[in-house]
Amino acid sequence: MRITGTGHASMRIDTAAGSILCDPWVNPAYFASWFPFPDNSLLDWETLGDVDYLYVSHLHRDHFDAEHLKRFISKKATVLLPEYPTSQLEDELRELGFTSFFKTRSDEVHELDGGLKVMIQALISPTDGPIGDSSLWVEHDGVRVLNQNDARPTDLTRFNELGQVHAHMLQFSGAIWYPMVYELPDAAKTAFGKQKRDRQFDRTWRYIDDLKADHVFPIAGPPCFLDDTLWQFNDIFGDEGNIFPDQSVFMEEYAKVGGTNGIVLLPGSVTTLTEKTAETTHPTPVDEFFANKQQHLEEMRERKAPVIAAEKASWRHPEIDVLGALKKRIEPLLEESIYMAQGVGGPVRFDLTDSFGPDGEIIESIVVDFPGKQVRPYNDEKVRYRFKTGRALIEHLIHIDEGDWVNSLFLSCRFSAARIGQYNEYVYAFFKCLSEERLQYAEGWYDEHEKAVEAEDTQLGDWTVQRRCPHLKADLSRFGVVDGNVLTCQLHGWKFDLPSGRCLTSVGHKIRAEKNS
Ligand code: FES
Repeated sequence: MRITGTGHASMRIDTAAGSILCDPWVNPAYFASWFPFPDNSLLDWETLGDVDYLYVSHLHRDHFDAEHLKRFISKKATVLLPEYPTSQLEDELRELGFTSFFKTRSDEVHELDGGLKVMIQALISPTDGPIGDSSLWVEHDGVRVLNQNDARPTDLTRFNELGQVHAHMLQFSGAIWYPMVYELPDAAKTAFGKQKRDRQFDRTWRYIDDLKADHVFPIAGPPCFLDDTLWQFNDIFGDEGNIFPDQSVFMEEYAKVGGTNGIVLLPGSVTTLTEKTAETTHPTPVDEFFANKQQHLEEMRERKAPVIAAEKASWRHPEIDVLGALKKRIEPLLEESIYMAQGVGGPVRFDLTDSFGPDGEIIESIVVDFPGKQVRPYNDEKVRYRFKTGRALIEHLIHIDEGDWVNSLFLSCRFSAARIGQYNEYVYAFFKCLSEERLQYAEGWYDEHEKAVEAEDTQLGDWTVQRRCPHLKADLSRFGVVDGNVLTCQLHGWKFDLPSGRCLTSVGHKIRAEKNS
């Protein structure tokens, strides 16, 4: 089996029974904020795109690059489709010209022509990707690969059952806006960033330890930020609170916990994998590449400046009545939302500036009033969440009829946020669901989930606790750690105060716990 690194979460897997291209991403994503790092735009995409199978793990724009898929990927390729509750991924791929689809069933091994075996595990909670994220397992001729991507399964048991995995590809770096966009003192931001960075690595070590694959490949990040206003997010300033460590940092940290089987793939690196060996060639020495990271980024910044400028020129649509358009789109959804509206529990304010981000003058303030089921002008009231961003970005979202603001505005990091009290996941879940189909799905999921998490118990230290984590149902008999009166679920690091049951990480999500007598 041959694995070619094609940048970020992308790779091409070649076997004697056919080739699979995964998540090819080249063009900037999220309002031209994220670019693949290292630059992969100079690869021979005509050849790479001439494949038998295409796997797009999910619809996040750093995995689903419509322009690139349209231009470079053979439409003869059969799409290996994860089993998602909505048909959006398939619909969007069909629109790009793909016609051959193999619909997999989650957690089921499928045998394709020539004995190529694949299994896709689909994760389908409202907080997984843009309603759905997935991992791809491949086996040919006794060699097994798990491309876990940026998916966060509660455990890797299903993959372990299928035999020793030889190559495990997984995310290790950040892919979110927290804590950078929050309006916090610098020291607090650094402390939160450091916590986040540590947690990302801890989670990665746990997955690696779970699977115990022969070789580990750090993939799916970090992106790089080439616009001047976002340049500081690149991890080149020695900031310990930066959440975007790169592959060379991964190798250093992995060595500290005893890891000796890591392999970094640059765009164009090729690993030849057998049941016993992994041999890798690189287009340029890896250490040398990372030693010159800053220069690589600076050159890339210069090359991509016209791309960013062209995108920016397309965002402004001042003729749009933003308040009226948001009323029309959001009010019917507020009316139908039970769990998410209740979960948000208060008004959310959007301050819109005259720039392309949080800087500049505020020219309009709008409130999405969840209890009042209304979108209206801001009224000098107290709000729990406030976002500040460019009016032009909202105009653009309205113009392109965007139904997922996480997969566009929030991941762009072109905003600032302030909140009173805890993180509230429902705020982001709601703005991911600005379409009838998604809203209904998410509401249904929360409804079922509420009932399911209540059912079973487990024993943790002196406590009898509900077995499933109130966040995303992780099995607390595996992931729960009790320290005094605080339970931490190690899957995403959420904390719960056991005597009161209160979630210390996010609003809502109470846990049922009782001290054993
Ligand atoms: S499942 Fe996310 S913290 Fe428990």
